[in-house]
Amino acid sequence: MSGHGTPIPMTSRKGSALKGEAHVPGDKSISHRSLILGALSVGETRIEGLLEGEDVIDTAKAMRAFGAEVTDHGGALWTVQGVGVGGFAEPSQVIDCGNSGTGVRLIMGAMATSPITATFTGDASLCGRPMGRVTDPLALFGARSYGRKGGRLPMTIVGAADPVPVRYTTPVPSAQVKSAVLLAGLNAPGETVVIEKEATRDHSERMLAGFGAKLTVETFPEGRVITLKGQPELKPQHIVVPRDPSSAAFPVCAALIAEGSDVLVPNIGLNPTRAGLFTTLREMGADLTYENLREEGGEPVADLRARFSPDLQGIEVPPERAASMIDEYPVLSVVASFAGGVTVMRGVKELRVKESDRIDSMAKGLRAAGITVEEGEDWWIVHGRGFGQVPGGVTVATKLDHRIAMSFIVMGLATEKPMTVDDGSPIATSFPVFEPLMAALGATITRGA
Ligand code: S3P
Repeated sequence: MSGHGTPIPMTSRKGSALKGEAHVPGDKSISHRSLILGALSVGETRIEGLLEGEDVIDTAKAMRAFGAEVTDHGGALWTVQGVGVGGFAEPSQVIDCGNSGTGVRLIMGAMATSPITATFTGDASLCGRPMGRVTDPLALFGARSYGRKGGRLPMTIVGAADPVPVRYTTPVPSAQVKSAVLLAGLNAPGETVVIEKEATRDHSERMLAGFGAKLTVETFPEGRVITLKGQPELKPQHIVVPRDPSSAAFPVCAALIAEGSDVLVPNIGLNPTRAGLFTTLREMGADLTYENLREEGGEPVADLRARFSPDLQGIEVPPERAASMIDEYPVLSVVASFAGGVTVMRGVKELRVKESDRIDSMAKGLRAAGITVEEGEDWWIVHGRGFGQVPGGVTVATKLDHRIAMSFIVMGLATEKPMTVDDGSPIATSFPVFEPLMAALGATITRGA
């Protein structure tokens, strides 16, 4: 778990061009869901290419605590012997989800309609994040929650002994909230309905259907309506986890801003609910191409080729695209610093409640590095200085946020002076091989200030 050890400062600097192939690890969202849905199935689920980052490992431990047998076979192959829907045992210890909002919120949903009690905690970042967005709908099923002020962890959930199905419109665009409600709905009789006004990542819907749940998705003017029939018997699956587009974002963006670069990032899923960053970069004039575009497991997949792009132009990112690139705004703001003109990002209030307040974390570091940033509650604007014009030469605070750390390390590969992050240890939550992968491309990243 991050944030409990000694901070690891890291410094990146301009150097050789980035060249070669970057094989990024498995998708974090799909990895969490594979373990949880595997645990809720009857029989053995096989997961190939699981992301072995700290967030997902914490979810694996949690599934063991709820009674599933989770085995690491090496080489990113894992199996889960599930206990079935409604089969969770009561954990004897506190469930520590580390840094992971996805882990804790999905697991709370998965246990909330069983007659068991569990207490959840996490690191300093996770204990500062709002859980009311999940416990409010879980209360409608009959679950009770007892947390700290403002619905913060540590928090105890008393699962509903006689859950009732729920019809719920998510008040914020959040796949975590949607997924928590759907997972709770699995053990409620009748139909649970979730309505989301804006489409968010749809892995839960796709995977629930894959595991044999009866689920329909309809799109109306008021949004997407997902209807789940409760108490199915989920069938174990063989899952091959696709590579994570949110991790691919870092070598892709690094290649766009590091002079002379040409990097191939193979096998990246371009599910439209996740691929907003790549569309945005292309609109900014990035030399980013989709090679070998194909379909795998019903999803578009491509090898991404990113080449140094000295003539990027800032754009206004359409607010309706926000959910499909919500984790990528930090690294987009880095690329925007090297573009000509302004990049305007609106409708992004959710960035304020991620692993850190990401608008604040990025604005502070970018300003220190010489970039003008304007911000409001749900918007921010980055004034690009153009390639070769970004000073850098500062140390920035990462606030237990992996994506803030990786974004500023990428930035330092193109600033005039090196960039240092005060603590790169949170990178292990989502992208444990980030340093060797970037080094293999030729990036100059060292430990220390
Ligand atoms: C995730 C959903 C997103 C995203 C997170 C992963 C998921 O959060 O930021 O990294 O796997 O469901 P929200 O659903 O809260 O927007």
